[in-house]
Amino acid sequence: MLVLGIETSCDETAAAVVENGRIIRSNVVNSQIEIHARYGGVVPEVASRQHILSIVPVIEKALDGAGISSKDLGAVAVTHGPGLAGSLLVGVNSAKALALAWHLPLTGINHLEGHIYANWLDSEPPEFPLLCLIVSGGHSDLVLMRGHGDYTVLGRTRDDAAGEAFDKAARILGLGFPGGPAIQKAAAGGRPSLRLARAWLEGSDDFSFSGVKAELHRLVEKSKVAVSGARENGAVVVADAAASFQEAVTSVLAAKTAAAARERTVKQILLAGGVAANRRLRERLSEVSPVPVRYPPPALCTDNAAMTAACGYFRFRQGKTDGLDLDVLPALRMT
Ligand code: KG4
Ligand code: ZN
Repeated sequence: MLVLGIETSCDETAAAVVENGRIIRSNVVNSQIEIHARYGGVVPEVASRQHILSIVPVIEKALDGAGISSKDLGAVAVTHGPGLAGSLLVGVNSAKALALAWHLPLTGINHLEGHIYANWLDSEPPEFPLLCLIVSGGHSDLVLMRGHGDYTVLGRTRDDAAGEAFDKAARILGLGFPGGPAIQKAAAGGRPSLRLARAWLEGSDDFSFSGVKAELHRLVEKSKVAVSGARENGAVVVADAAASFQEAVTSVLAAKTAAAARERTVKQILLAGGVAANRRLRERLSEVSPVPVRYPPPALCTDNAAMTAACGYFRFRQGKTDGLDLDVLPALRMT
């Protein structure tokens, strides 16, 4: 079965065709990063307008890329939350129009669930029960998954999401947007010489990243980290500060995820979401995990519609479809 996936929850206009939830036939992502970078973050109004301009060409490109016409499709899957309301509306309304015009079943996908299903694409299917760490720009959730669509949230961030913390730290260090890749790049040339405080939240599977970000901010304000100009009093250089921040965040994520895997009987750990593209996180988690760790290739960690289509396929197989009253749910969570 070929599923058309549509994803417009933030600043990527994406459409993809996936066969049987696993084989990518096409995967088109039209990124708006350059437009938002000049504002230092995603501007919701600008994002929804760009989605309106891009959505039809992106869907056409996905069908062309797969070498198919609408008649070959079996279903349409679209992200309906969480995300920016104006952005989600463009994808959801386009998907509804196509489902109606092409007489196809429709299903609304939770964006976070979509991220998990990037692990099913072009690879051996993961084995249940598994633990999944979803780390994106808006969320950091630790989820136990016993089967398709069967989730128990064990923990989540109490303040900043991991990706949000990377983005804010990059802004503090003057490294630009998006922050995650910028911190990773700067950190590659540095040493984690600053011992930034880590929030372990003992006895809980929750996370907290606002403290480490605030500490970094304080060090920059006090000129203990040299973000510009002369380096005085042995101030730490940006590369070392970036490496220290990356080390603090990834060590907590890796250690707490590994501990949760040890406590429950799981066969694998899956990484998902934009921060799953981080090399240090992959390395650290693989070092400390008691079970095999899997992660998608970097391009499938960040927002795309192939993951939406994959997730949609498994929902359709369970008979889960939505009507044309499907609405956007900007604050949707993993439940
Ligand atoms: O999943 P995603 O593309 O969008 C959301 O659903 O939020 O994640 C975007 C987030 C951003 O905060 C970005 O800075 C972060 O993922 N990110 C990274 C890396 N690549 C993207 N964080 C750390 N290291 C990376 N290599
Ligand atoms: Zn995402």
